[in-house]
Amino acid sequence: MNDMSTEGYTTADGRKIGGTLMEMKNITLSFGGVKAITDISFDIKEGEIRAIIGPNGAGKSSMLNVISGFYIPQQGEVWYQGAKRPQMRPYEVARQGIARTFQNIALFDGMSVLDNVMTGRLNHMTTGLFAQGLWKGKAEAEEVANREKAEKIIDFLEIQAIRKTPVARLPYGLKKRVELARALAAEPSLLLLDEPMAGMNVEEKEDMSR
Ligand SMILES: Nc1ncnc2c1ncn2[C@@H]1O[C@H](COP(=O)(O)OP(=O)(O)OP(=O)(O)O)[C@@H](O)[C@H]1O
Ligand SMILES: [Mg+2]
Repeated sequence: MNDMSTEGYTTADGRKIGGTLMEMKNITLSFGGVKAITDISFDIKEGEIRAIIGPNGAGKSSMLNVISGFYIPQQGEVWYQGAKRPQMRPYEVARQGIARTFQNIALFDGMSVLDNVMTGRLNHMTTGLFAQGLWKGKAEAEEVANREKAEKIIDFLEIQAIRKTPVARLPYGLKKRVELARALAAEPSLLLLDEPMAGMNVEEKEDMSR
């Protein structure tokens, strides 16, 4: 029998649960004299929800930035899907299936909600810029399929009514939801949410939880 704590198992609907997805080993990160993270280790299993808690300045965002490749720790190792991760740029980390939201929302303000969510699909697009420009054959089929996925997530998060609205015009709570939509659109193996409910009112928090 499998040792579920290390190997995990697959559910009837094909999801893998319980295997180790990520291991952070002895991570230390400092900015000049400021120690943001000191020798922190933890792991994340497939299918698991984990939270990092701590007061302002404790290093929560910094840890998410290390996981997503925005910050490079001075010490420690990042293991992902069973292999030690070499130093990577954020776009390379994203390609490995890690998506995130930002504490200070980072959307494309001038673009519509739908277009923002579509940017979450970029790593699933294989045709080149030229083919996409011509909008023929494979490029067309790919864009249609990706658009369907984006629309599904927009429905799921109940933001259909604002799908054509430029993000700059949205209130804070909805912007947060669009960021979540973009991250979900990437169909990540690991989803990082930095303070997904900060600054929301009770109703917005209830919506988000649901
Ligand atoms: N880019 C940076 N340059 C310099 N110092 C930084 C940088 N990012 C974070 N820090 C410092 O690292 C420490 C941890 O900050 P971090 O933002 O990770 O905390 P946090 O737990 O996310 O806090 P909050 O609850 O306010 O979001 C703080 O002292 C912060 O000032
Ligand atoms: Mg933070």
